[in-house]
Amino acid sequence: MSRPRILVTIPMFAEVLARLGERFEVDAPCGTADHIDWTPATLAGRAQGAASLLVAGTPRIDAALLAACPSLRAVCSMAVGHNNIDLAACTAAGVLVSNAPDVLTETTADFGFALMMATARRITESEHFLRAGRWTHWSYDLFAGADVHGATLGVLGMGRIGQAIARRGALGFGMPVIYHNRSRLAADIEQQLGARWVGKDELLQRADHLVIVVPYSPASHHLVGAAELALMKPTATLTNVARGGVVDDAALAVALRERRIAAAGLDVFEGEPTVHPDLLTVPNVVLTPHIASASMPTRGALAELAASNLLAALGQGADAGRPPTALNPEVLPLRA
Ligand code: GLV
Repeated sequence: MSRPRILVTIPMFAEVLARLGERFEVDAPCGTADHIDWTPATLAGRAQGAASLLVAGTPRIDAALLAACPSLRAVCSMAVGHNNIDLAACTAAGVLVSNAPDVLTETTADFGFALMMATARRITESEHFLRAGRWTHWSYDLFAGADVHGATLGVLGMGRIGQAIARRGALGFGMPVIYHNRSRLAADIEQQLGARWVGKDELLQRADHLVIVVPYSPASHHLVGAAELALMKPTATLTNVARGGVVDDAALAVALRERRIAAAGLDVFEGEPTVHPDLLTVPNVVLTPHIASASMPTRGALAELAASNLLAALGQGADAGRPPTALNPEVLPLRA
């Protein structure tokens, strides 16, 4: 019997490709380093006959792709965010979907905190100044920014990563923590984190440093736009490590240019890898290319978890039939 074919749409660790290659015919057109711009047509063409896809936060997996590729039985992502995958359409088609939570929590929280600190203390702006040869003398206000220790940390979206950021702020930096989330944390967890639930407007009004960690969905589209930015203190910073589209980037660029807020740190963008041109010209923003989970150990763990899900979904390996982080386990067992 021929082995099932799987399509890996992203550059992938050689070890993971080798692990998958023991059980499947692996089509990995990106190898370990290249990039393919997957248009819907390119993806549908290449996925013909594939039993599973291994993807990350792109490309878009929707009903049209599933209809064009009836052989697909599983879509396994090495990202925690899965807004690129139409889960309802996959479930309706009996296609298993998995994401990659937990293994990235601490690494992403490290980065979110670092980006917030770089933003508050104007680290990249001052480095550009130095590299440009403009540092000529000491001045009391040279790149004076905002303090992080003791300042009020506002967390929008208090899931696993939000909680890990809150813990860093409360325990490491003595920050009073306020948060807004659809559901409140249990009282004992609030107590451990020293975090207090507030309404969204109060969060925006009171936070000295607002960190956004809410998943993207149609309901969170432009959750922070011009009206919300107008509620923030002029001395406040905003950091987004969630998803592009949660913040209205055009409105944010205006608020930064007009100094309605002090500064922003952005790892994610609407329409990335394209970045709103106005964000590229304002000085008071720290910009990074969606790298919050990018430590080598964590990227390795994400890839291994996606591979474990894929193996298990297609009935192989230690967890055969029980993908560890399935998002729609109700479709199991998969059709042969
Ligand atoms: C990264 O953005 C992820 O969702 O894992």
